[in-house]
Amino acid sequence: MTRDEALTIVREYVKNENLIKHMYCVEAVMRYYAEKFGEDIETWGLLGLLHDFDWEIHPTLDEHPTAGAPILRERGLDEEIIQDILSHGVDTGVPRNTLRRKALYACDEITGLVTAVALVRPSRSLLDLEVKSVK
Ligand SMILES: [Fe+2]
Repeated sequence: MTRDEALTIVREYVKNENLIKHMYCVEAVMRYYAEKFGEDIETWGLLGLLHDFDWEIHPTLDEHPTAGAPILRERGLDEEIIQDILSHGVDTGVPRNTLRRKALYACDEITGLVTAVALVRPSRSLLDLEVKSVK
């Protein structure tokens, strides 16, 4: 599946622009880590881009992302990526036992935290955020 095909799925199922921005964020960070770890950048990016595609139609942890998997199979997404998407859910039975799955879970969480930090600032931006190291 190409990135354009994945984006078509995202645009079909996701109407909330903030959720789409979140998926773009996870895609970008996944691409960064794929390069850092010498992995396939396109595959890791697709995983980040698609991981929450069904949240609006399956907005509970019981359904998401399990109920979305058949849709992705129907669209021809590689089963390995579908299993990776399932691994980021709760109690899906798919373990986070690969670097890619661990990266997805971590990137999903950290991008949410970074966005939250930006949104609580008066500027609603990270550009004026001072980073201090803690020793
Ligand atoms: Fe997510």
